[in-house]
Amino acid sequence: MSSSKARQWNESHSDAHDGVIIELQDVWKIYKMGSVEVPALRGVNLKIHKGSFVAVMGASGSGKSTCMNMIGCLDVPTKGKVYLDGQDVSLMSESALAQIRGRKIGFVFQTFNLIPTLTALENVMLPMTFQNIPKHKREKRARELLEMVELGDRTGHKPGELSGGQQQRVAISRALSNDPELVLADEPTGNLDSKMGVEVMSFLSRLNKEEGKTVVMVTHDSNGAKHAEMIHKLMDGRIVGSEVGEGQQDSSTGGKAVSSMDYTSTL
Ligand SMILES: Nc1ncnc2c1ncn2[C@@H]1O[C@H](COP(=O)(O)OP(=O)(O)OP(=O)(O)O)[C@@H](O)[C@H]1O
Ligand SMILES: [Mg+2]
Repeated sequence: MSSSKARQWNESHSDAHDGVIIELQDVWKIYKMGSVEVPALRGVNLKIHKGSFVAVMGASGSGKSTCMNMIGCLDVPTKGKVYLDGQDVSLMSESALAQIRGRKIGFVFQTFNLIPTLTALENVMLPMTFQNIPKHKREKRARELLEMVELGDRTGHKPGELSGGQQQRVAISRALSNDPELVLADEPTGNLDSKMGVEVMSFLSRLNKEEGKTVVMVTHDSNGAKHAEMIHKLMDGRIVGSEVGEGQQDSSTGGKAVSSMDYTSTL
């Protein structure tokens, strides 16, 4: 689909502001390295709608991870605004934001980021510890999540005793432990072979379709990106293109709210 068609599609689906979980408005991120300024994002505008599955693509250094850090409220823009559920993130205190992030957003990283000394079960339980959930409930939920990713028989294994694909599935379980609305995955298949990559990708897709989670994924893999409803392309810190992917659902037959990510690039 052409960029202009995608834009029309976005416009037709962007009327309901209350369906937006994250909005970036003219977001700039300029890293200062001594006297040198590195502009990583240069005026990104986008809306991520609840229940959507969005892929972000672009060359190395184009600003994908920086953009994910903004979407995940892990970093603040140099200029511009980020709204989480309609609330201006810059007006929230760091502790309030950390609480909200812990509840609403689950992160999956390319390098899994599991704690090597903890078992799969303990890794999945960990984020719930910070949300004051009693231990027996944490353990029950962690077991259920590991069963969901078909690792019910590996709960006592440490990361080093699991394959890459299994470690990433533990990481996905961990990201889901607080039942977040939004799952952010930065190159979740980057360290996996193609078979395991397909496995992880189809799991993320199921999370979106069956559990209704909003999923935003950075990927270099154009086959994987096809699972998404919208594919956005970043170049030099700007969104330069937007396509509707094969994961787009038909609201008239799907029964699920169709969602999208809008962009109006300030080119
Ligand atoms: N903490 C930082 N300090 C200074 N510059 C940074 C920092 N993080 C990123 N950059 C720079 O910002 C630009 C965008 O980086 P970013 O990590 O967002 O790219 P990316 O698209 O995720 O790349 P990759 O595909 O390699 O992960 C790059 O030029 C990078 O060198
Ligand atoms: Mg990156």
